[in-house]
Amino acid sequence: MSRRLEGRVALVTAAGTGIGRACALRLAREGAALVVNDIEVEPLERVCGEIRELGGTALPLAGDVSRPEIPAALVEAAVERHGRLDVVHNNAGLGIQAPLHETSDEDWLRQFAVGVDAAFFATRAALRVMRRQRSGSIVNTASGAALAAEPNLGGYASAKSALLGLTRTTAVENAALGIRANVICPGSVETPTLLQALAGRPGGAEPYLQAHPQRRLGRVEEIAALVAFLASDESSHINGAAIPIDGGVSAQRAAPAMYEDPPD
Ligand SMILES: NC(=O)c1ccc[n+]([C@@H]2O[C@H](COP(=O)([O-])OP(=O)(O)OC[C@H]3O[C@@H](n4cnc5c(N)ncnc54)[C@H](O)[C@@H]3O)[C@@H](O)[C@H]2O)c1
Repeated sequence: MSRRLEGRVALVTAAGTGIGRACALRLAREGAALVVNDIEVEPLERVCGEIRELGGTALPLAGDVSRPEIPAALVEAAVERHGRLDVVHNNAGLGIQAPLHETSDEDWLRQFAVGVDAAFFATRAALRVMRRQRSGSIVNTASGAALAAEPNLGGYASAKSALLGLTRTTAVENAALGIRANVICPGSVETPTLLQALAGRPGGAEPYLQAHPQRRLGRVEEIAALVAFLASDESSHINGAAIPIDGGVSAQRAAPAMYEDPPD
């Protein structure tokens, strides 16, 4: 594995499990020193152990990133420990399923708090450091739900769509100072949360998988590879981009196909 991030300092939120964990491990493998966050202490400690086993450095800071003081403390911890901050991966998100007409105020606001407010708090704090440094890369995790609607995900889709606006504004306001911001839009990814949801579907996961162009879910390592690329200087001209990573889902027309599928 390349060491594109040697000497860099990276912060990842919601890094205890799933996509965040895979991204934190990948950034560490590529040489970055990590500051990692999760609301749950135990998975956070576990991922720090895994990073240290790889020979990396990990500073854990547990807490709910929707509380403004947590993202601020994460950025402060990075600067205090390492004197700089190069990469911020705003990965926390929350999806609560309900049709819009049955979405409570509390659920709507919570999805925005975890999915958008938290990223704003971290971005604002990080920009103050990165603008002084004249460098930095911010990567936000949105979702395919920000690219096209599906029923029962209105709060989640709206919050993830707002993340695209935050990312684009971050990019254009700070590009001249050597700072980039991009947002990834994963399709369905094999994470504990998703696998659990699929297991509960009538007929299990298989019909759902078969409806995907690649006939499979995304893997957390595939998401981590994109995040590491966006974090690194290899993506130096990619700025303000909303990048689908979904095996072709967002490229596929949602209307029923007119012609039969070719055989696999
Ligand atoms: N899994 C998918 O298929 C998928 C697809 C598209 C986008 N995403 C997005 O990717 C990101 C990660 O999703 P995931 O499926 O890997 O995991 P997840 O959403 O199930 O949770 C990952 C981690 O986030 C932590 N967390 C939850 N709320 C938090 C908070 N307020 N503050 C700090 N940590 C918190 C959890 O403890 C957990 O360890 C989310 O933003 C999600 O919306 C996931």
